[in-house]
Amino acid sequence: MKEQLEAIRKQAFDKLEEINDIRELDELKVHYLGKKGELTQILKGMGSLSPEERPIVGQLANDIRTALEERIAEVKERLIKALRDEKLKSETLDVTMPGRIRHLGKKHPLTAVLDEIKDIFLGMGYEIAEGPEVELDYNNFEALNIPKNHPARDTQDTFYISENVVLRTHTSPVQIRHMKSHKPPIRIICPGRVYRSDAVDATHSPVFHQVEGLVVDKGVTMGDLVGTLQAFARGIFGENTKIRLRPHHFPFTEPSAEVDVSCWGCNGSGCRICKGEGWVEILGAGMVHPNVLRECGIDPEVYSGFAFGMGIERITMGKYGIDDMRLLFENDIRFLKQF
Ligand code: PHE
Repeated sequence: MKEQLEAIRKQAFDKLEEINDIRELDELKVHYLGKKGELTQILKGMGSLSPEERPIVGQLANDIRTALEERIAEVKERLIKALRDEKLKSETLDVTMPGRIRHLGKKHPLTAVLDEIKDIFLGMGYEIAEGPEVELDYNNFEALNIPKNHPARDTQDTFYISENVVLRTHTSPVQIRHMKSHKPPIRIICPGRVYRSDAVDATHSPVFHQVEGLVVDKGVTMGDLVGTLQAFARGIFGENTKIRLRPHHFPFTEPSAEVDVSCWGCNGSGCRICKGEGWVEILGAGMVHPNVLRECGIDPEVYSGFAFGMGIERITMGKYGIDDMRLLFENDIRFLKQF
């Protein structure tokens, strides 16, 4: 029985050295020390021993049990510590590491300028009107006093969807729609995307944005137009901005003018932005042609109106000193971040 006990001791201790998992350790404990464990079984068989042998074997069995229990406890502690170390290592937080920068979204410069333009006109009591980008030839041209043979209808300038449908070349058709569905007094601005068959370069794009304005009421004069544009120019380019009107021709206004603002770069003395002129052209304007009013069911003997239209790209480029329109459409984050 002594040999049996010694064999169990050796076997158990050998196995213990190879264990590296707590579950295996628990199994081993049960295997030797459990109720049905090997050591327990042997102790149960002690009855068959002689009275002299009994205490010696008993002592030995108890020593082995104690030694085994101690060793198991040690191994268990070692395993738990290893487990904890591993966990700590995998959860290490290096508080000296640099943070990850989250960039804040910003308004696109075109949106920012459009918002400014809207603010100025909303402040003067205008409403915003919108219309479709795919438009009837009638609304885009004919109702605006641009007859069938007018050069503006050339396929060089206009994207035709079909004979009677175009991609709008300006937002003036929104004004036609509005005049046909509303009675004066009318005071609207029409912001939106417009299309012209131009090749892309630093100052042209086949898609760009306009804001057009329309006021129709009794007794509206050219003086109202000039005062409105003056207020607008000061609002967008600064208090000291002056405007100047040059005679021009648009089929839908009479008289018509091109409108310049004093250069924001040099205040009128001449620089690179205004090419030495001191003035920069920013919009077209005029008194609504009687034919247009009549076409929309408004009596030109009773009512008069003015209209104006501007390209948002050009104003944005001027305000921010951007020299290539393509930058506004490429959405390069390095460019957009600067605004
Ligand atoms: N519709 C014109 C254009 O797109 C601009 C304009 C609007 C001119 C109103 C005069 C009056 O070119």
